[in-house]
Amino acid sequence: MTLSSAPGKVYLFGEHAVVYGEPAVPCAIERRARVEVQRRDDGKLRVHAEDLSLNGFTVEYDGTPGNGPDVDVSESLISAAMGYVDEAIAQVRDVTGEDDVGFDVTIESDIPLGAGLGSSAAVVVAAIDAAARELGVTLEPDELAERAYQTEYQVQDGQASRADTFCSATGGAVRVEGDDCRSLEAPDLPIVIGFDGGAGDTGQLVAGVRELRDEYDFAADTVEAIGDIVRNGEQALADGDIAELGRLMDFNHGLLSALGVSSRSLDTMVWAARDAGAHGAKLTGAGGGGCIVALDPTPETETALSFTPGCEDTFRAELAEDGVKRLE
Ligand code: MEV
Repeated sequence: MTLSSAPGKVYLFGEHAVVYGEPAVPCAIERRARVEVQRRDDGKLRVHAEDLSLNGFTVEYDGTPGNGPDVDVSESLISAAMGYVDEAIAQVRDVTGEDDVGFDVTIESDIPLGAGLGSSAAVVVAAIDAAARELGVTLEPDELAERAYQTEYQVQDGQASRADTFCSATGGAVRVEGDDCRSLEAPDLPIVIGFDGGAGDTGQLVAGVRELRDEYDFAADTVEAIGDIVRNGEQALADGDIAELGRLMDFNHGLLSALGVSSRSLDTMVWAARDAGAHGAKLTGAGGGGCIVALDPTPETETALSFTPGCEDTFRAELAEDGVKRLE
């Protein structure tokens, strides 16, 4: 039995635009997915999820995800999660050369599925790390991040950046631009999350932005403008200038709204955070529903969000210094 964990993340800046080669700055947070694996010699993959903001489910299959588990969240979310696990195991079979190996996989996660906090990247990173180690192979961080990226790339039909998976594999704040991924120095950030209880479909949202960008010059310009904000944000991060970071996050949210990836509940939470005195607030991740990230060292934003209609949960998030953790 082998157990690894990996953190979720928030995007300080740059989601969506990063898919088109602009830089992005995600930041790992201390909310983790833990994946335990045990080798099986019959080639089957049996996945049990204790908590993916779900009630818990077990799926057994020979390679094709989506056996229709009986749970009270959308089937498409579950089958998407199964798709990630399935492809992660394919990467492990490939890197270890053990083509016919099977696994019992148990997933526990504090990261809501599809809500912009990098649940799939965390599950994928932890699953690849644990399954490879179960077969006696310890992957270097670069190889782990690469295999995790390939997993997301396959599952999202070629529409994925390296940002989520690199951040989850290495921890900390990172900068990703195309294939260039590196760690950044970051001050202690007063991160507050608001969660509307919902989720967005990353594949569909990314495809929607692509269509808009193909059809309208304004959308292509907006993607470039997000890149400018990210470059300014990097400087603010290096200066430890929280007020400027917040201001730039506000701009970034406006541009993501222009690309059509915000929602009424995300906008409502963003405005509630601003009204409460947060330095700034924006949606995080693919959007469509899920989470916002705000910067506020005082308790005001959390309090305001807890009374905001449409906000189901609010909490503070610490920066996760470590990426993947090898637990057993
Ligand atoms: C999703 O967490 C972030 C996106 O930029 C997609 C990606 O980078 O792969 C929307």
